Amino acid sequence: MTVGIRRVDPDDDTALLAYAAVVNAVTPEQPTSLDDLRWAGRTYPGGARFLALAEEDGRPVGTASVGRIYMYDASYERYWFGVEVLPDARRRGIGTALWVAASAVARAVGKTGLQTDASEAQADGVAFLLHRGFEVIERSKMVRLDLRGLAPPPVEPPGGVTLTTLAARPDLAAGIHAVALEAYADIPSADEPVAAGTLDEFLDRDVRRSGIPPDAIAIALDDATGEVTGWASLLIAPGSSTLAWHDMTAVRRAWRGRGIATALKRATIAWAIARGLETLETGNDEANAPMRAVNARLGYRPIPDLLTLRGPLAPA
Ligand SMILES: CC(C)(COP(=O)(O)OP(=O)(O)OC[C@H]1O[C@@H](n2cnc3c(N)ncnc32)[C@H](O)[C@@H]1OP(=O)(O)O)[C@@H](O)C(=O)NCCC(=O)NCCS
Repeated sequence: MTVGIRRVDPDDDTALLAYAAVVNAVTPEQPTSLDDLRWAGRTYPGGARFLALAEEDGRPVGTASVGRIYMYDASYERYWFGVEVLPDARRRGIGTALWVAASAVARAVGKTGLQTDASEAQADGVAFLLHRGFEVIERSKMVRLDLRGLAPPPVEPPGGVTLTTLAARPDLAAGIHAVALEAYADIPSADEPVAAGTLDEFLDRDVRRSGIPPDAIAIALDDATGEVTGWASLLIAPGSSTLAWHDMTAVRRAWRGRGIATALKRATIAWAIARGLETLETGNDEANAPMRAVNARLGYRPIPDLLTLRGPLAPA
């Protein structure tokens, strides 16, 4: 058996489809699609993103992605690293070879380490990372809401607040960016602050993405001033017509504690039910007790934890 590793050309749809097929077979809980890969290639071009495909006698058996962590500033010292190998091709060194290839890409642009996440249910993947010096830096408690047969929850924003959507009010894009500038700084994160970025960077990543329909972006407005006080959005899982993730829920500091986030979240749940989705998933840091309590009340139930890990580059 001969294994070869090659770079996936971001314009080569056949290679992108082969890449997506491996990822979706190995990590169906974090699927990708041609559309999503094209979005990422467009938004993070060049060395900021590198996809690799491992082929055994011409059959795609493994994949790796390495590149900028979209939620952090571009200068952050680590690159993102994803690695997947089909179960029947494991324990032959393919994963290690992909880690070596990914490390070379990161090293070439001056990065000093890698970061990734893995579902706790991926026992092989977590063991592989721990054996290579990766450490768990964060544990997200993931939950799932089964929408099948669920009645749309009542959306009751507090007095003086009106809900709308970005589809109805596209002029509010800059207003949600202003909320992000304030709220992202407050997202508990494993020591590296999450960066909202410039208006364009923010819109490219969190708004102008095919999996984020503008009518699935719920926006809260202060009736008195017309100011955006918060927003909540859904990201439809790439390639899926039944699963979406809560992408972001953010409320300006001065408006917190009044039920705006709950109303926004309910609006997105109602949207998902009307759209015929079957499942919503979301995750929160272990320590985020208030958000987890809200989710439990809304009917979300635990699924395996998502681990965030940091680790070294493979030796050169
Ligand atoms: C992580 C993953 C990519 C590893 O792929 P892999 O091809 O099995 O990786 P390797 O073969 O290089 O290494 C796996 C183990 O097999 C061992 N191995 C390698 N060649 C071997 C051989 N010829 N015979 C026996 N064992 C071998 C390695 O030493 C390693 O064991 P270790 O971790 O104790 O050192 C794979 O398990 C996977 O796809 N998991 C699910 C996705 C995931 O969770 N990814 C991580 C987060 S992004």
